[in-house]
Amino acid sequence: MSFIGRRISSLGRTFIGAPGIRKGLYTLSKGRILSGMRPTGRLHLGNYLGALENWVRLQDDYECFFSIVDWHALTTGYEDTKDIKGNIREMLLDWLSVGIDPEKSTVFVQSQVKAHAELHLIFSMITPLGWLERCPTYKEQLQQLSEREISTYGFLGYPVLQAADILIYKADTVPVGEDQIPHIELAREIARRFNYLFDTPVFPEPQHKLNQVKLLPGLDGRKMSKSYGNTIALSEIPEEAEKLLRNMMTDPQRARRSDPGDPGVCPAFSYHKIFNPERVAEIDPLCRNAGMGCVDCKKELAAAFAKFMEPIRERRQEWMRRPNDLDDILNNGAEKATRVAEVTMEQVRKAVGL
Ligand code: TRP
Repeated sequence: MSFIGRRISSLGRTFIGAPGIRKGLYTLSKGRILSGMRPTGRLHLGNYLGALENWVRLQDDYECFFSIVDWHALTTGYEDTKDIKGNIREMLLDWLSVGIDPEKSTVFVQSQVKAHAELHLIFSMITPLGWLERCPTYKEQLQQLSEREISTYGFLGYPVLQAADILIYKADTVPVGEDQIPHIELAREIARRFNYLFDTPVFPEPQHKLNQVKLLPGLDGRKMSKSYGNTIALSEIPEEAEKLLRNMMTDPQRARRSDPGDPGVCPAFSYHKIFNPERVAEIDPLCRNAGMGCVDCKKELAAAFAKFMEPIRERRQEWMRRPNDLDDILNNGAEKATRVAEVTMEQVRKAVGL
């Protein structure tokens, strides 16, 4: 008996069963996740603790599709594309190094699964312009990236492409940061509109799942962000990371070794909480009564950090020794994703009448 085409119910709604990669009878009992990241450069620890760490955990509870969305990178970066290929490779290494497991999850490059473009095209026919123009991320980015020429058709359609990414797999759950909520809502609206217009319940309505975020400030105490130059890359070599940590900001009021410090305002102390949690209760009073200086405190931090990073670094090096396997992961991922996507596309074409 095939699940494909059978109507099942999810979240109280009915839609045509998700095209499963069948692993026995229970294919449909696990929820399905899709999420993506644009390959715009090396990931940093904020990306790991804010998003990727969640993905790694979700791999056991969901059937996961993780996509390196290179077409999305083009929407804002179409003028300079020379780094995209390299960034895709770095992103894959970043993902693998933290424990995204291609045995468990389908990892693929968006542009290797052409069906995303076909579904995007069809969705673009039914998505009212107003929905896109009203999107808060659209308005914000137009202002923020005013130096780039992004009043383009493709940029306006960014969330339509994202809806296609999600809906083509009939994903029910989308782990994202808060900024992406409007996009997931739009995906639901597009799903609903498609099902209504073509009178066929092809798509489920996906829900966002907010990432649990461990807040790690940047090295200067501001939000960690590439544009501030205050990050530590996941792929940073240990000596460089140590140097960065030794030079990072501490309580600015604490000028001398003998001054008492305030861990509450010290970025290095925030790092201890994440990378050196067993020692936090002891370091706190040592800082407050000047029992330990910033130099020693950061030396200890660097050691704890190195230990935290060790398995990540080892996994990265392991994969870097196997470049052919990296290609295989992406090719197999694209193949698997294409298989699932094509089942949906057949239903889509049929529903539309093509
Ligand atoms: N827009 C997302 C971001 O900037 C990236 C993305 C593209 C995505 N397609 C997706 C996220 C599908 C979740 C699901 O972070």
